[in-house]
Amino acid sequence: MSRKTAAITAVGGYVPEGILTNEDLAKMVDTSDEWITSRTGIKERHIIKEKGIAASDLGAEAVKELLHKKGLDPMEIDLLICATISPDMRVPDTANTILDKIGGKKAWGFDINAACSGFLFAMTTAAQFIESGMHKKVIVVGADVMSTVVDYTDRTTCILFGDGAGAILLEPSEEGLGLQDSVLKGDGSGRNLLNIKAGGSLIPYNRENYDSKDFFIYQDGKSVFKAAVTGMSGAITELMQRNHLTKDEISWIVPHQANKRIINSIGEFLDFPMERVMTNIYKYGNTTAATLPLCLWDYEKQLKKGDKLLFTAFGGGFTWGASYLKWAY
Ligand code: UT7
Repeated sequence: MSRKTAAITAVGGYVPEGILTNEDLAKMVDTSDEWITSRTGIKERHIIKEKGIAASDLGAEAVKELLHKKGLDPMEIDLLICATISPDMRVPDTANTILDKIGGKKAWGFDINAACSGFLFAMTTAAQFIESGMHKKVIVVGADVMSTVVDYTDRTTCILFGDGAGAILLEPSEEGLGLQDSVLKGDGSGRNLLNIKAGGSLIPYNRENYDSKDFFIYQDGKSVFKAAVTGMSGAITELMQRNHLTKDEISWIVPHQANKRIINSIGEFLDFPMERVMTNIYKYGNTTAATLPLCLWDYEKQLKKGDKLLFTAFGGGFTWGASYLKWAY
């Protein structure tokens, strides 16, 4: 008997209305539209400007759109996994808050923190529940409010990130469509190169450190850049070899959107045409766990049943990997 596979059967997305342009940033720190565009490919990013809106609100909007498009009752959802590094609260998880906001009263949920690889790891985890036969309808959300962890006086990081959320529905496929294979990797020795140091059990919040920069995102940009190119290119190569895939049969590469130069380097390494590499970093920046589902959201109309997609991501941890998926609609 052939293996039951987990197929993506619907996509939703949401970005807040507020826009932060390169020109806006040039008024806040010593930078320019020219530098940001040429070094990162980013022109603008959406950020939450109102108080009281959190990751679960973005995630809930993305899921509501997905449910509406699919005509699905939230009571039919079995499980919701949310990938995020900017949860509403430290406890409880954001997945259950999203379920509450959308009326998914029969489902259970939990969060995954794997930084920019969060969606990839969550999608692979979610697929196991479909493949095992335990569940029939699993939602994966990638949602991040990066504007709450960015230091807007640090020009090396504040230009990179945006807020947003994307969601997919996974259902069993009788035709072998959906997730085929994944190569997932981790290396905790990279933790000092990309992190938010404070706010956890190592450096808890206290009277002395309440205004410390350690509550914001830090990265050694050059080292992370190199590790990202090597990691994503390597994971894709391993996945292609293992599945006997040639580049000509791949319809789309769906890469994490951290820097257009990283995306270009992966395309060059694989000698893959850039027209088939999904790119939307210019309008959202790096939305961390939301980049991959927001790519699907933007490119959904161009996808055809049977298309072979290669996802890849790299992030804090370090965490990275690649997934091979056959599009189901
Ligand atoms: O999603 C998680 C994974 N994250 C990533 O993959 C991000 C990887 N890293 C990057 O995308 C890039 O390293 C950055 C965009 C962060 C930085 O680009 P870079 O080409 O590596 O620049 P750099 O750090 O080597 O800096 C070059 C120069 C420096 O000036 P000096 O020392 O040469 O005088 C920086 O101070 O550019 C300066 N610089 C800026 N100048 C204008 C850094 N940020 C800015 C800025 N505007 N915003």
